[in-house]
Amino acid sequence: MSKMEVKTSLLDNMIGVGDMVLIEPLSEDTFIENLKKRFDHNEIYTYIGSVVISMNPYKSLPIYTAEKVEEYRNRNFYELSPHVYALADEAYRSLREQDKDQCILITGESGAGKTEASKFVMSYVAAVCGKGQEVNKVKEQLLQSNPVLEAFGNAKTVRNDNSSRFGKYMDIEFDFKGDPLGGVISNYLLEKSRVVKQPRGERNFHIFYQLLSGASDDTLKKLKLDRDFSKYNYLSLDSATVNGLDDAASFRTVRNAMQIVGFMEDEVQSILELVAAVLKLGNIEFKPESRCNGYDESRVKDKNDLKEMCELLGIEQSVLERAFSFRTVEAKMEKMSTTLNVAQAYYARDALAKNLYSRLFSWLVNRINESIKAQTKSRKKVMGVLDIYGFEIFEDNSFEQFIINYCNEKLQQIFIELTLREEQEEYVREGIEWTNIEYFNNAIICDLIENNKNGILAMLDEECLRPGTVTDETFLDKLNTVCAEHQHFESRQSKNSKFLTDHSLPHNCFRIQHYAGKVLYRVEGFVDKNNDLLYRDLSQAMYKANHSLIKILFPEGNPAKVNLKRPPTAGFQFKASVGTLMKNLLSKNPNYIRCIKPNDKKAAHIFTDSLVCHQVRYLGLMENVRVRRAGYAFRQAYEPCLERYKMLCKQTWPHWKGPARGGVEVLLTDLQVPAEEFAYGRSKIFIRNPRTLFFLEEKRRQCLEDLATLIQKIYRGWKSRTHFLLLKKSQVVVAAWYRRFAQQKKYQNIRSSALVFQSFIRGWKARKLLRELKHKKRCEKAVSTISAYWHGTQARRELKRLKEEARRKHAVAVIWAYWLGLKVRREYRKFFRANAGKKIYDFTIQRIMQKYFLGLKKMPSMSPVDKSWPARPYGFLDGTHQELRRIFHLWRCKKYRSQFTEEKKATYEEKLAASELFKDKKALYPSSVGQPFKGDYVEMTKNPKYQKLNSFVEDKVLVADVVSKINRANGKVTPRIFLLTKKSLVLADQKTGQVKASVPLPDLSSVSVSTQNDGFFALKLKEGSTSAAKGDFLLSSDRLIEIITKLHCIGATSADRNKINIDISDEFLVQFKQDKVCVKFIQGTPKNGNGVACKRKNNRLLEVSVPSP
Ligand SMILES: Nc1ncnc2c1ncn2[C@@H]1O[C@H](COP(=O)(O)OP(=O)(O)OP(=O)(O)O)[C@@H](O)[C@H]1O
Ligand SMILES: [Mg+2]
Repeated sequence: MSKMEVKTSLLDNMIGVGDMVLIEPLSEDTFIENLKKRFDHNEIYTYIGSVVISMNPYKSLPIYTAEKVEEYRNRNFYELSPHVYALADEAYRSLREQDKDQCILITGESGAGKTEASKFVMSYVAAVCGKGQEVNKVKEQLLQSNPVLEAFGNAKTVRNDNSSRFGKYMDIEFDFKGDPLGGVISNYLLEKSRVVKQPRGERNFHIFYQLLSGASDDTLKKLKLDRDFSKYNYLSLDSATVNGLDDAASFRTVRNAMQIVGFMEDEVQSILELVAAVLKLGNIEFKPESRCNGYDESRVKDKNDLKEMCELLGIEQSVLERAFSFRTVEAKMEKMSTTLNVAQAYYARDALAKNLYSRLFSWLVNRINESIKAQTKSRKKVMGVLDIYGFEIFEDNSFEQFIINYCNEKLQQIFIELTLREEQEEYVREGIEWTNIEYFNNAIICDLIENNKNGILAMLDEECLRPGTVTDETFLDKLNTVCAEHQHFESRQSKNSKFLTDHSLPHNCFRIQHYAGKVLYRVEGFVDKNNDLLYRDLSQAMYKANHSLIKILFPEGNPAKVNLKRPPTAGFQFKASVGTLMKNLLSKNPNYIRCIKPNDKKAAHIFTDSLVCHQVRYLGLMENVRVRRAGYAFRQAYEPCLERYKMLCKQTWPHWKGPARGGVEVLLTDLQVPAEEFAYGRSKIFIRNPRTLFFLEEKRRQCLEDLATLIQKIYRGWKSRTHFLLLKKSQVVVAAWYRRFAQQKKYQNIRSSALVFQSFIRGWKARKLLRELKHKKRCEKAVSTISAYWHGTQARRELKRLKEEARRKHAVAVIWAYWLGLKVRREYRKFFRANAGKKIYDFTIQRIMQKYFLGLKKMPSMSPVDKSWPARPYGFLDGTHQELRRIFHLWRCKKYRSQFTEEKKATYEEKLAASELFKDKKALYPSSVGQPFKGDYVEMTKNPKYQKLNSFVEDKVLVADVVSKINRANGKVTPRIFLLTKKSLVLADQKTGQVKASVPLPDLSSVSVSTQNDGFFALKLKEGSTSAAKGDFLLSSDRLIEIITKLHCIGATSADRNKINIDISDEFLVQFKQDKVCVKFIQGTPKNGNGVACKRKNNRLLEVSVPSP
């Protein structure tokens, strides 16, 4: 949007012309016509270049809204339709951005809208400048100073219901950012005569009416006032209430404004007391009292008002009373007291009232200044707004009007000077040739008034200071002599015969041809007003007042500071302050608002041509336009000009690359505008004739229409295309969605139909199956029921039969039993006693058995070798007792055996084998029973001597012992190590471990031992075996039983070998080499001792004597 920003112009939607410079043809009629046309359309603002003409609409227009402020904010002056905001914006921006101090000069006659315009300017600036708590406070204070000053300084006049009766110049100060810092207000000559007297149809200052209407009863009571206006002499009853003015509401506004500006409550009270005092003062009346010297002396008529006034101001009543009756004149160090007559007393009273009020007003302005003064000392930018009383012509014009009109004259002067100068400077700046233009310069009128030598003001001062009798008439005479020659001065008495017969010019008047018209001034009061005298007695009385404010207002009443010098005259003061003001204005960049009043009736919609024409004339607006158009009627910077008209030329449309000036040149050449119609300035194009501008405007309008059509065409095409594309896209989306939806629906239909089918079929199938199953089940059930019934029937039948049979059998048995019983009973009745004995016997036996078994609960020992067993209690239980003993023994043996390990078992088995072999066969046996069969007694593996032997024996050694070998030849004994393995037996040397003989067990045929208590045994070898070469072995060992048993056991366990026979006899044959030798055991004699002795008796006999047991 920002790129497309629409550039507007003053020339857009123009009613008439917005800038008078463009009027064509230029004449007073067209000028007025244009103003009227615009006024009728509520276009109250019109430009002459940068000057704003403002017509008072006398009605509120909707053109001062916040939106309007925004609209005009930061826009170029000619960009929008004319408005006072455009001027304010221009001034504010140039102040902020170019650091130029500004002044806004608002001129026009009374009621033309100056004060309103100044307020619009101020509110606009307040709205667009910076924001913030502090800044807002400053703004509020600046804005709220207006209602306060208007209440005290404005009054209803015949021309304006809110006429400013003082001149006001307000400097608004800004910092470098453009934020307001504060302000300074200067006031110019309040029309104080109004306090005591108001022309017909006019009112006193607003504050009096506002106070009486708006103050609370309480306040009024405190101020000793009455609400009734008619009770006060100083308030004219004429139009005491003004249409459209609500005094009561205004009073509240003023009070509120005072509070915002920063007035303290006690200050407000003092101010109101002073206002009330003025009203009271007006009610003081005087009566003459004849004095002996023949003169009348004035006396206060009714002292009540005087008293109340004195109470209000804290003045001693007698002092004031005296001041109204006497006057002290000091001359040459002498004090003289003269009496005052009634007229003088009234004069003194009014002078006091006027002074009181005007000093109060000045004090107010100062007090406001104190509040709104900028707090910083840094450099400030200043915007001055001048709202001075307008040029006015009344029926009866006095010193005040003279002063007011003089001031307006000066402003007109400054306007002429500055507009001209500005114009001239612009031409020089832009390098354009300048042709001088004739216009009326009012400098001559200013000179008539202010010339220090013979100006009217100087004459007046001279008169006032002149000793001797000075009256208004003498002043007029003086004027008539001094100014008679002046073109703009008219008087009956002047020598200029022209006016001698002019009856419109009374004798006590003079007339000045002001720039704005002729004004007839009545000289009466000129001298007095210029002197502005207040009797010293009065000022001293005031000074004595016990009232803070009054004391300040009358400093000259201080007796310590008596100053005999005359104070400067009012005229002098005013001239001086106007001079300062002018200087001040000249130093700033001026902006003009020229206010015009459309009618004299304060009515909307009435446009009185003659009145407007008059104002246009005296404001010099025509000259203004002419000057503006002298060289060139219209000027515009190159950039906006190019921007506005670039569409008129192909080269510049739509964009011109290069400097704007070049673009404008190309443009104008292309449009064939005659060269004399324009000139190129440095930054602006100057167009001589408005016609040229209108030609450009017309072309632009046409071109804009074409462009609009083009834009419309392209836009419509674009819009339709995008719309179509959007429609197409939407259609595709819709179609896709619809298709999807339709297919989805179709699919869902099919699916649900399939489901229905499926479920019907499944249902049908299931029902069919169910039916079948049910049928089957029912059949099965029927079968089983039938069979059950059948079986039941069968069973019942069988049962019945069996029952019948049983019953029959039972019956038979019972019958039989009964029969037998009967028979037996019959038979055995005689043996009954013997029968009883058997029963008793059985019972007794049963009891005994019971007792016997219970007695067996205590078991004998669990040891298998324990032979003890309790004795049988009864002889008849013998067999049972023995059987029980046997069973118990077997059981405990089993128990005992079950604890045995394999090893232990083997040992016991060997022991058993030994017992089987030798028990009761050999006397040596019993001694071996207690010995455990250890097997290895040599511990060969531990003895290093037997290492060789160890390696020789491969199998596990079953027996290793030292035995005695009996020499076959002599029967001598040698120790040998005897080793028995599963496969062989080995004999080795006991000392060296050397193997002496090794016999494989299969070569062994039998072993022979004696029955005696000896350890001899013979190992017999099989005949023909390799081992048998040397013959059988005869050995002896204490552990014979063990050795032989083990040897026997090897034979018993190995299946491949025959059992080794064990012969036990005291005589057996042994094969010694080729000889068979008989070994015979004999009982030894005691001489042999206990040892066994072996002796070879002969070749055939070996005798072994064994000790007798
Ligand atoms: N722009 C405006 N819109 C509406 N009413 C306006 C406008 N300007 C002026 N008026 C009306 O005209 C009246 C007089 O205007 P204003 O007080 O500004 O005149 P003035 O030029 O200051 O007169 P004076 O010289 O007597 O002070 C205002 O009270 C108001 O009613
Ligand atoms: Mg005003």
